[in-house]
Amino acid sequence: MAYPHRHLLGIAPLTRVDIAGLLDAAQAMVDGHVPAGLAGRIQIDAFFENSTRTLMSFALAGKKLGLHVLDFGVARSSVAKGETLADTARTLAALGADVIVMRHGAPGAAEEVAQAVGHTSGRGGCAVVNAGDGVNEHPTQALIDAFVLRRRFGTLDGLTVAICGDIRHSRVARSNMLLLTRMGAHVRVTGPTGLLPPGAIPEGVSIVPDLEDAISGVDAVMMLRVQHERMAERLHLSANDYHARYGLNSARLALAARHAVVMHPGPVNRDVEIAGTLADDPACSVILEQVAMGVPVRMACLAAVLG
Ligand code: NCD
Repeated sequence: MAYPHRHLLGIAPLTRVDIAGLLDAAQAMVDGHVPAGLAGRIQIDAFFENSTRTLMSFALAGKKLGLHVLDFGVARSSVAKGETLADTARTLAALGADVIVMRHGAPGAAEEVAQAVGHTSGRGGCAVVNAGDGVNEHPTQALIDAFVLRRRFGTLDGLTVAICGDIRHSRVARSNMLLLTRMGAHVRVTGPTGLLPPGAIPEGVSIVPDLEDAISGVDAVMMLRVQHERMAERLHLSANDYHARYGLNSARLALAARHAVVMHPGPVNRDVEIAGTLADDPACSVILEQVAMGVPVRMACLAAVLG
């Protein structure tokens, strides 16, 4: 595929053609067409925030492409001695990293690292893939979600997707709003008043304060975890009250289209944002398919920036 960017920092700079190209490349990976020629390149995963599925699927994706995959152990590193993010990145690039997969709590951290390694001299250059930067973007998660929807419905064009919960602090919501609308889907966002997006939202996204109105007739319901760790002020709502007012249960799901799928990027807080039984129900839940498709989608992303 012809991927015209050096890095993958967000959905914002991607065109429809870029997105479709990445999704087609992911399908090629599923079909077993793994590109040769990347073997031996070096991938360093630098995760400054916790992760299970993103970290593991990036590592597996790199290994399936034949890359050397190293984990930069943040806790054991010189970050604790006060080394800056930019100097850390320059160090990893100078050691020979061809791609740094970055997760960080600060919005813009991936961009900062991309700028820093852009100035590394003497090598072919190091690409940066954003695996989540604070409340900003999580582009590979949005690509996975789009890939799962495209597998199910054939296209994203004309679909209606409800994204529910903590929209304000969710990089998954942000990247999904950008991607889905760019690909011709309609997006409704809903959640507690204080967790709705405070600023501008992309064209094609509507804020529907009532959860049941938001879910009504949609093709997909995407539930999100409340990002307590990103809140300046605590949310004054017990887990039970949250579930009663804003959680997905079967009665509410029945308002969606009959063919609707239930999505969640994980980690799930059972019986808070979603009833545990619904999350487990293979008749509607595609949550584990989202996990599994993380590998081919991330293979496509790594191959794109290394290609
Ligand atoms: C999300 C994240 O880290 O933004 N998880 C993921 O990567 N699948 C969502 C979350 O933490 O709630």
